[in-house]
Amino acid sequence: MIDQVTVDKVLETANSQIVEVVSDYVTLRRRGINYLGNCPFHNEKTPSFTVSPHKGIFKCFGCGEGGNALNFVMKHDQLSFVDAIKHLGKKFNIHIEEEEYSPEQLKQKNERESMMVLSEFAGQFFSKNLNETDEGKSVGLSYFRSRGFRDDIIEKFQLGYSPEQRDSLTKEAQKQGYKIEYLEKTGLTVVRDNYQADRFRGRVMFPIHSLAGKVIAFGGRILKNDKKTAKYLNSPESEIYHKSRVLYGIYHAKQEITRQDRCYLVEGYTDVLSFHQAGISNVVASSGTALTSDQIRLIARFTKNITIIYDGDPAGLKASLRGIDLVLAEGMNVKVLLLPDGEDPDTFAKERNDEQLTSYIEEHQQDFIKFKTSLLLADAQNDPIKKAQLIQDIVRSISIIPDSITRSVYVKECSTLLKVDERVLMQETGKLQKKKQEEDFRRSAPRSATYNTPSAPPPASAAPAPASAPSNPLELEEREILRFLVKFGERPVNPEEENPASVGQYILHELKQDDLLSANPLYNKMMEAYDAVCQNVDVPAMKFFVNNADPDLSRLASDLVGKEHELSRIHQKFGVVTNAEEKLSELVPKIVMELKWKKVKTVIKEKRLQLQQLDAAGKVDEMMEMMQELTTWQQVLAHISKELGGRTIV
Ligand code: CTP
Ligand code: MN
Repeated sequence: MIDQVTVDKVLETANSQIVEVVSDYVTLRRRGINYLGNCPFHNEKTPSFTVSPHKGIFKCFGCGEGGNALNFVMKHDQLSFVDAIKHLGKKFNIHIEEEEYSPEQLKQKNERESMMVLSEFAGQFFSKNLNETDEGKSVGLSYFRSRGFRDDIIEKFQLGYSPEQRDSLTKEAQKQGYKIEYLEKTGLTVVRDNYQADRFRGRVMFPIHSLAGKVIAFGGRILKNDKKTAKYLNSPESEIYHKSRVLYGIYHAKQEITRQDRCYLVEGYTDVLSFHQAGISNVVASSGTALTSDQIRLIARFTKNITIIYDGDPAGLKASLRGIDLVLAEGMNVKVLLLPDGEDPDTFAKERNDEQLTSYIEEHQQDFIKFKTSLLLADAQNDPIKKAQLIQDIVRSISIIPDSITRSVYVKECSTLLKVDERVLMQETGKLQKKKQEEDFRRSAPRSATYNTPSAPPPASAAPAPASAPSNPLELEEREILRFLVKFGERPVNPEEENPASVGQYILHELKQDDLLSANPLYNKMMEAYDAVCQNVDVPAMKFFVNNADPDLSRLASDLVGKEHELSRIHQKFGVVTNAEEKLSELVPKIVMELKWKKVKTVIKEKRLQLQQLDAAGKVDEMMEMMQELTTWQQVLAHISKELGGRTIV
């Protein structure tokens, strides 16, 4: 933990010198008050990447990436928040004071660190054994060679060998001063009352690296295929190794995943190695567990595009189908490559070089609809019942996709491919989605309607929330309000008043009063964060947000002020407002009113729909009730319209 004062200092310094930070990676040229260069986050020939020294932010108009100096370093070097702060601290000669830990925290931290150091040691022990001992060379190394793995790959992945002897690692580690406690906690040693033995014996070893490249666990493969023992033995769950959140190969793949904007997902250790050997390194394996949402979110930090390449056998097929829905549910794009039966990515890659492999994948990967269709359509073509099942199956996958535009694109494709009316498909996905929303709603705790309730702690994986939240009809209006909050939060709405409310206070008060929570949790988080500090008038909102220690907030803030041209109702109505600062007393109440107007419009639209449904179902009593409600809402709308200067109600 780095203390907040230091974090703030680093952020302020780095953001005020953002041109210098970015220039370490990108060649920038001055263009007016901004700087321009080629975006490091996507391939481009004409520069659309701008840095604003004045605002302390960067923004790419090509790929949309943007944020402050910290966000830039985190994204570019794929660093954690803490590591990025340390990096910037070093750059600007700011001494990083690490906060004192409570005894409990200290114990946990030391424990984790001890386990990491030990794992690193074990990795070196296994690798030394493979390369330098007779047993290792004749058994382990010759095994890897017989499977065709090159030395540079063996070295890159720190492959190793654990000797047959019962306790060679346990003994050596203890001799070097490592405690048996940690040998047991990492699972390297099995401790019983009367003996201590190595978990891995007579196996070739695959170290598993964390995102930062530290050894955190191992997979060990037996060499003989005739044994009844499981082919692979893996480290157990531990303080430093959570299977469901780790992907084999992610450390060696992350940079290339960003560059290619695609990640290949395979099943096994050897699949990853063979892809690297063929010259393709944007590849990871779920290794040893069924694919999890946490693993997909880990990939989502680097790309939204995944290609699943599983073994060409029935098990691989089943796993691919399951993987598709998991990836879709995270709002990501998924393709599938079906290998010929009997091949796995390892064998398949071994027979091909970089170019052949890439072009095969590019030609044969299919989006999930084509994949499912090609799988089943041969069967289903002349069998209406099977065809209906296939359609149902595809529709179910489409309904999982969070983003409505993507959904409709796939509905179109499905309609063309299977010759089914688009409207029918749309209706079906709609039904399934509604069902799912109801289930989600029932499962989630009722949420409170004030901004003051502390939000739930972020998921431990620290992965970003899926980019596409459910569509939000109030998106434009809410962003407009947040933009004012960020730019003018601490300014008085009306300086002429005796005790003027600040823009932030005004906005928060108005929204709270009417329980206007956003459908977007991030927007709510921004409100809550400002609510907590806005009594403290010393804090300029722009600084507070752009320098915020929460990377989600600082990114959103930079995004809002970086996209000032973003179309909004206000702009449509009054033309682009250039001197908003001078018109706060007029504009701020207006944008809040605009939001309320839109909200009420949305409610009325929903109620009308419900009314139709009640009508169709012949529920007369409930219809009467609904009509009364509608009348009230209409009155509210009329009132707001008047405030907004006589907007006509349609
Ligand atoms: N696996 C495991 N335990 C097993 C079998 C498999 O943990 N008993 C995991 C391993 O991570 C393995 C992956 O599942 O890499 C895929 O299994 P499989 O395809 O059977 O192994 P391969 O990686 O193909 O290994 P090899 O090529 O050495 O047979
Ligand atoms: Mn395999």
